[in-house]
Amino acid sequence: MTFKETYATAYDALYQDKDYEKECDFIEAIFKKYKCKPKTILDLGCGTGGHALILAKRGYKVTGIDRSSSMLEIARKKAEWAGLVIEFIEGDITGVSLNRKFDAVISMFAVMSYQTTNDAIAKVCKLAKESLVPGGLFIFDCWHGFAVLSDRPTPRIKEISMPPSIHLPSETESQVIPSPLVGEGQSLPRTCFGGGGKFANEKIIRFTQPELDIINHIVYVNFRVLRISLSCHPDPELVSGEVSQVKETFESHPMRFLFPQEIKYFLEVAGFEKVDFYPFLEIDREGLEYDGCGEIK
Ligand SMILES: C[S@@+](CC[C@H](N)C(=O)[O-])C[C@H]1O[C@@H](n2cnc3c(N)ncnc32)[C@H](O)[C@@H]1O
Repeated sequence: MTFKETYATAYDALYQDKDYEKECDFIEAIFKKYKCKPKTILDLGCGTGGHALILAKRGYKVTGIDRSSSMLEIARKKAEWAGLVIEFIEGDITGVSLNRKFDAVISMFAVMSYQTTNDAIAKVCKLAKESLVPGGLFIFDCWHGFAVLSDRPTPRIKEISMPPSIHLPSETESQVIPSPLVGEGQSLPRTCFGGGGKFANEKIIRFTQPELDIINHIVYVNFRVLRISLSCHPDPELVSGEVSQVKETFESHPMRFLFPQEIKYFLEVAGFEKVDFYPFLEIDREGLEYDGCGEIK
């Protein structure tokens, strides 16, 4: 499945609380621990550039690949707005061959879990290996099998309101959204978040209905996303509250949950020599004992 426009343009808003800075700190802590001093980083499944932008800002030369043109369009706009030079390539990480080497490869926020077949996982591991210089690091997280089986996924609702202050009534240069991605005092153009410039306010409601397929280690994460635009008031500080448009989209994201031994096997077959696992964002605690957050390096 590919992230389509309506979901892609809601993505940054839906994950506005995700701490990409902290995740990049974690990535850099791994570099340090393994005495790796990368200059170039390949970001597999870079999406809207959450990690790519921050890492580029920290001085790395970043190349991002994603198969969703809608996600990449947002990533490109954000990089341009932030004045960062990042190469974004549209492509499928199970099929592309870059014929280039990088010092590190990352693939964050469960991109590996989007590879639901053994064949696809093997291909991504192979791409990572052949894209790395000798001694380079491949860092990724994924859905933790133990976690999924012990805390079965349940239906959820997430609601995001875009504050009126960041949704002004007409599209002008001054329409900006404060964003941690471009640092203190700077902001991103509102168009990065999509949603149409005509509306004073927007509410995004995402309903998640998961279905578990234990035999195939897959959770079908079925999303129904409603984007409700409220009509604007002549005074940009006020919102009339009248619903002027409702967009509805459905996406089913099949997500593979993985277990340590199969990950080790895929990586070793691809030629990786050392495989270590860490709880998400915890560089000082090795192992994978399930404790509520299960991500794997
Ligand atoms: C949950 S998003 C994560 C995006 C980004 N890494 C982040 O942390 O925000 C998963 C991304 O992986 C991309 N993706 C999944 N499978 C892919 C594949 N086989 N080839 C290229 N991109 C893929 C999707 O298009 C989507 O943008």
